[in-house]
Amino acid sequence: MTEEQLAVQIQKVVKEAGELLKEAYADRETIFHKEGPANFVTEYDVKIQDFLQERLASLLPEAEFLGEEGEKEKNGWEGDTFIIDPIDGTTNFIFRYHHSCVSVALARKKELRIGFVYNPYLDEMFWAVRGQGAWLNGRKLEMKDLSLEQGVAAFGCARYNTGDTDRIFAMARKLYDNSLALREGGSAAIDLSWIGDGRNCVYVELLLHPWDFAAAAVIIEEAGGIITQCDGRPVTLDSSCSILAGTPKAWEECRKFWDACGG
Ligand code: IPD
Repeated sequence: MTEEQLAVQIQKVVKEAGELLKEAYADRETIFHKEGPANFVTEYDVKIQDFLQERLASLLPEAEFLGEEGEKEKNGWEGDTFIIDPIDGTTNFIFRYHHSCVSVALARKKELRIGFVYNPYLDEMFWAVRGQGAWLNGRKLEMKDLSLEQGVAAFGCARYNTGDTDRIFAMARKLYDNSLALREGGSAAIDLSWIGDGRNCVYVELLLHPWDFAAAAVIIEEAGGIITQCDGRPVTLDSSCSILAGTPKAWEECRKFWDACGG
């Protein structure tokens, strides 16, 4: 199977997973706390993760999985790995914001090759195949190189990551002062993917797991944007890291702000 054919098959699975998310209704009785404040898992995170693992394994039986509700660490990256977040934006899901998604990436020998971020509430499938481009549903994404003052800036600050609160709000203040508007959307995967379509010109968060950003990373890069850690180093798939992503112009501006904030 070529990578394009594989992407078509993965997309069908992601879409079905999205339907499960759209029909789901978080029942407070079934919400579990993970580590730290406002770090939730619902029965649907688990159900959708299981659904994705079963269906994606039938496409690539040798593939391994890394995911928010499944295997969280890997020893080697020799073959194929699906990196999955069954519901990115779990708090939004619980509070019915309708700004949550299913995020699936495929890494081959640790290189991110394919990414899907699907928001079923808007029926928006952001996707990309390395070297082929990025799309929103059937429309190819052509990124306009917006500067901060021309665009909307977004950031993330998970309630459970209390150690970074002062630094992320110092950075958010810089974004607020220098952009058209500032947003905290609550789904890093969606908020990152939106860079591909010019809705956000930049996204900053100080601690994200690979399953929060892996799929969106392919989408951003294939659309013409940049995604790195805040200090400019490449993102890591072995552990969580900070994320700075944006159009080339906005990314460059934010790199300087990050250094000015003390890094
Ligand atoms: C969270 C969301 C949120 C971001 C957090 C993530 P989850 O993922 O992406 O926007 O700020 O850092 O953990 O827990 O909803 O899958």
